Amino acid sequence: MAKKELKMRAVVAPTETVIVSAYDKDGKADACTLAFYMVSSHVPPCVTIGINATQKRKTLKDMLETKAFVLGFPSINQVKETDYLGVESGYQTDKLVNIGFTTSPAETVYAPIINELALSLECEIVHTVTIGSHMQVTGEVKRIIADETILNERGRVVLEKLQPIIYDEEEGIYLGVGGKVSDAFRTGIALKKYLEDEKRG
Ligand SMILES: Cc1cc2nc3c(=O)[nH]c(=O)nc-3n(C[C@H](O)[C@H](O)[C@H](O)COP(=O)(O)O)c2cc1C
Repeated sequence: MAKKELKMRAVVAPTETVIVSAYDKDGKADACTLAFYMVSSHVPPCVTIGINATQKRKTLKDMLETKAFVLGFPSINQVKETDYLGVESGYQTDKLVNIGFTTSPAETVYAPIINELALSLECEIVHTVTIGSHMQVTGEVKRIIADETILNERGRVVLEKLQPIIYDEEEGIYLGVGGKVSDAFRTGIALKKYLEDEKRG
């Protein structure tokens, strides 16, 4: 198939859209939308977010002062609020109040949980490193709090119930999650076994 070389950029589509929230030193909550988010460790559970350190980001300043943040997962019915939190700055106005989002203090770290989000991870900052324009902030997950309505009987998050917002940087749009394509691991293990059997003859 013919290939084309693309303009230089870090292609990050698709990513799950998250909302990171923090208190400033006066105890005021701010939050911003992020697409640079990844799971960075299973044990201990850690997540890493990337925030542009070359531009003024109030949430970044706040979280570095308090050494904590909450990572929240918005649903597709909150796409307007999510986009707004990514185009306005807490330096200009009280974004959370403007959109009617309320907060409660996290139990394990000094950071605000956004009550309206169905899934939130309370995180203590354990590492930062700046790569190019972005500071990578790694938080160790200290507590996970979720609406019962998004859980299955085993207490696991069901994506089809959470309905996360997928951000497509290539086209500048938000998408929902499609249906199941395959079982994870089992599909690869079946192919691995097949290839090994083939080799053995
Ligand atoms: C879909 C979307 C994704 C974004 N992803 C990031 C990101 O990963 N890193 C970042 O630094 N800013 C990102 N932003 C921009 C910030 O959310 C934005 O600059 C925000 O106004 C910062 O607010 P604050 O000053 O209150 O912290 C994103 C915005 C949108 C709409």
